[in-house]
Amino acid sequence: MLNTENLRDLFLSYLKENHIKRPPEKLYQPVNYIMELGGKRMRPVMLLMAYQLFANEVEKALPAAYAIEMFHNFSLVHDDIMDEAPLRRGKPTVHKAFDMNTGILSGDVMLILAYDYLMKTEVAEKRLELVQLFNAMSIKVCEGQQMDMDFETRSEVSIEEYIRMISYKTAALLAGGMKMGAIIADAGVDNAQLVYEFAWNIGIAFQLQDDILDTYGDPEKFGKKVGGDIVQNKKTYLVLRALELADSVTRTHLTEIMNTPTKDELAKIKTVKGLFNKLNIRREAEYLKNKYQSSAFQALERLDSSEERKAPLIEMASQLIGRDV
Ligand code: IPE
Ligand code: IPE
Ligand code: MG
Ligand code: MG
Ligand code: MG
Repeated sequence: MLNTENLRDLFLSYLKENHIKRPPEKLYQPVNYIMELGGKRMRPVMLLMAYQLFANEVEKALPAAYAIEMFHNFSLVHDDIMDEAPLRRGKPTVHKAFDMNTGILSGDVMLILAYDYLMKTEVAEKRLELVQLFNAMSIKVCEGQQMDMDFETRSEVSIEEYIRMISYKTAALLAGGMKMGAIIADAGVDNAQLVYEFAWNIGIAFQLQDDILDTYGDPEKFGKKVGGDIVQNKKTYLVLRALELADSVTRTHLTEIMNTPTKDELAKIKTVKGLFNKLNIRREAEYLKNKYQSSAFQALERLDSSEERKAPLIEMASQLIGRDV
């Protein structure tokens, strides 16, 4: 059984071996750029950990791990266009470093490459199941992304709708990926389902932390533009909970800010953050995040593997949910 550091190294060397050298350069250079820009690599590493809950020879899950990271990076390239984001992992986003058309087409090819790698999974009879799972997962990500965009201009969004939106845009990918790891390891239906449940809940907690960091992150560390969600009128849990807890004057003020075209981004961020602070919104979000984390750990407890094999997942999930990057 490999430890977390070895799993990450194993994945990173696979990534390096699969650097794309063929032309056209304008198509593939952005792919290499975003794939090699760093990032936490949590999806591939957790897919490998899910595999290791049930089997050895973790190399068998490497192509699927690569497929998940490729899909994730594809989704980021297009997400950054949609969110008009200038920064990713402390560097210019693909559409800024190159141009918009490059972002579109290089993103497209990454989605296809993800499937190409998934099909390299050795156990041939598993491929159909993996592709079906991959399809269901990718459709959820697109649906979640669309909800996220629709909510920007919608004034009434319930917390329930928000949770569905982040489950789809974020948790589905971690859950689908980790379930793939379990399937490749022959975990059996019940165990694979518990892995999915674990990752689904961790994914929700992870996105809640992403929303918290988008407002409260340290610009030196975060690697993305702090306050971007406020500028874009994203209906994050922070906003929705603030609307719920605010008195009517504050609620009207916050709604007005979101309904008015942004003139001064920094002033808008400052005002909204001030409202959040008065309502203790960060603490509210932390509370909900911890609830999802506990549900995840309960699912992990129920699945059929050793404490030793579960430990890296507990450690990694806890670290991600309390992260500052
Ligand atoms: C960013 O994911 C997109 C979200 C779902 C919040 P990560 O925070 O995992 O991004 P990287 O890969 O580590 O940069
Ligand atoms: C991430 O949502 C979801 C996907 C990329 C599909 P965000 O828009 O919050 O992700 P970041 O904050 O840009 O990484
Ligand atoms: Mg987005
Ligand atoms: Mg974004
Ligand atoms: Mg975000």
